[in-house]
Amino acid sequence: MWKSTSFDRAQAAMKSFALDETSVSGYIYHLLLGHDAATPPPPVPEQWLKNYDVSAPGLPTLNTVQQTAVRMALSQPLSLIQGPPGTGKTVTSATIVYHLTRQNQGQVIVCAPSNVAVDQLAEKIEVTGLKVVRVAAKSRENLSERSPVEHLTLHYQAAHLRNAPGYAELAKLQRLKDELGELDSKDERRYRGLRRQVEHEILKAADVVCCTASGAGDPRLAEFRFRQVLMDESTQATEPETLIPLIMGAKRVVMIGDHCQLGPVVTCKAARQAGLGQSLFERLILLGVSPYRLQVQYRMHPCLSEFPSDVFYEGALQNGVAASERLSPDVQFPWPNDKKPMMFWSHFGQEELSGSGTSYLNRQEASAVEQAVTQLLKSGVEPQNIGVVTPYEGQVRVARFPNPTPPCFISPLVTVVHTSRYTGLILSFLQSQRLFVVNHMQRVGSLRQELYAAVQVASVDSFQGREKDFIVLSCVRSNETSGIGFLSDPRRLNVAMTRARLGLVIIGNPKALAKQPLFYDLLTHFKNNDVFVEGPLSALVECATPLTPPRGKGGFRKGNGEWRGYIPALGSNPDFKPADQIEEKEVNWPSGGGGYAAWNANAAAQYASSGDGDGSTSGGYQHATAPGSHAGQYSIY
Ligand SMILES: Nc1ncnc2c1ncn2[C@@H]1O[C@H](COP(=O)(O)OP(=O)(O)O)[C@@H](O)[C@H]1O
Ligand SMILES: [Mg+2]
Repeated sequence: MWKSTSFDRAQAAMKSFALDETSVSGYIYHLLLGHDAATPPPPVPEQWLKNYDVSAPGLPTLNTVQQTAVRMALSQPLSLIQGPPGTGKTVTSATIVYHLTRQNQGQVIVCAPSNVAVDQLAEKIEVTGLKVVRVAAKSRENLSERSPVEHLTLHYQAAHLRNAPGYAELAKLQRLKDELGELDSKDERRYRGLRRQVEHEILKAADVVCCTASGAGDPRLAEFRFRQVLMDESTQATEPETLIPLIMGAKRVVMIGDHCQLGPVVTCKAARQAGLGQSLFERLILLGVSPYRLQVQYRMHPCLSEFPSDVFYEGALQNGVAASERLSPDVQFPWPNDKKPMMFWSHFGQEELSGSGTSYLNRQEASAVEQAVTQLLKSGVEPQNIGVVTPYEGQVRVARFPNPTPPCFISPLVTVVHTSRYTGLILSFLQSQRLFVVNHMQRVGSLRQELYAAVQVASVDSFQGREKDFIVLSCVRSNETSGIGFLSDPRRLNVAMTRARLGLVIIGNPKALAKQPLFYDLLTHFKNNDVFVEGPLSALVECATPLTPPRGKGGFRKGNGEWRGYIPALGSNPDFKPADQIEEKEVNWPSGGGGYAAWNANAAAQYASSGDGDGSTSGGYQHATAPGSHAGQYSIY
């Protein structure tokens, strides 16, 4: 099902930016367009900057670099803050928001491209004691998966205010509506009017409004103006999407991001070639705005940050935590090297194409995931502190059916065959690795089902911005010839590897993965640390598979020929071509039945990821390699 809301809002924002002089301040307008004429407002007195106390209640004490970032953000009309995973970008953002609310500039709007990132930030801002309202899309109000900031959402607050004295009429109409299912048209009109009024009151009373970038275009916010905007994970948003919260009157803009993590999902190749894949954050850096850099990470055990630092950040990522602060001696997990809570656990089971032909699953890896999770649970790790990352997740189905249970129309079928030997087959037809893992853990796991149900199993994309104590990553792809699919994107591997605080288990087929230079390096790193293993969890031994270097060294080199890493330099968009150089034949609009299905699926998932659907299943696309797909077309996996 195609819904154009996000696109309409982005387009309206561009129009407003171009035509409405009051949409953003003159300075920001010229800066965004790269005009030399942009004259900055007068500088803030240095003394003020030096003496300003940047602490915020309830948040960690910031290091000096983070503190300077806060001061810069408070004193400049536009600031960019960049930093690898775990360097406190979100904590710094929450601190900035706390101080922005004290600048007598009115309410602050706080955005991120995905619902997950918005929730994460809203949670941290709430800690400071500010009045936060999280505006979620109407379609998310009834999701069965409860958000951790449910109590901050506008609909939740409206529902509770209704019960307060003075709102008796609305409460009565609501009761009637709940009992009867619907109201007559007169009552419905009155009900809607009263509800709008309540929502408006709540929004007006807030210090901070949090929503996805696309959610900033929500009609309920139409009358509001925000002079101060902060956007986390800005490098994950397209430029028009970023404009949506900006054109509400922005005078001060703070953008936080990391171009070495996932970028915007743009399914159309022509659009990417024309530059839509580049975020505003990146473009501003290329225009000469210097980002402020955070480089000390506080999330991971130092052994976990070493590889990402070396291959994705030219070794610049430093550790603000000592190994001793990230040990978990009570957790009985058979780490092969007791000083390094990480391992690559080799499995050689075959990948399978799921029934839809666009997704993959790997039963042996699903079983290994279950064993690793069971072991962690058994040794007392809370299920909420474990994350399972699996690249292939049957995106569309999940977007439509947020419950991990199969959709109702097929569940009788599943029940009938549940005990038969075909169960796995049918499940695999319906699901891909994410749902397969969820089901497998609950069916096979030896502990209580609720425990497994509380373990979060999600795609890499929806883990961006989050952290867990333990991460189990299942690579899924395992074949001799057709590559490793979407994990070959170094930015995705970067995000996947940097979510864990205390321990990381990677499950994959080393033979298949090592063909790729980045994974060859990863496997060699694990081998050098004596954590490259195989065999049953209770008797792990060093993996005997030899690692043969792939031909040539992948990645990028500096001007002087020195190797600089796997992630292209900022602004080097391999797809980019000036619009007038894109030939008609390169615009591979999908055609034919399968093509349209994939296209619509992509659109639906993109829509979901950009804020108005189930953002927990945020995007993830790759070149279609599945049989039957159209060359050059993008397909969901
Ligand atoms: N200055 C600091 N002192 C202590 N802990 C910090 C500091 N900055 C960040 N952290 C912690 O590090 C972890 C990662 O921070 P987060 O803001 O999520 O990083 P990022 O958004 O850059 O990935 C969080 O647990 C956070 O509380
Ligand atoms: Mg963050």
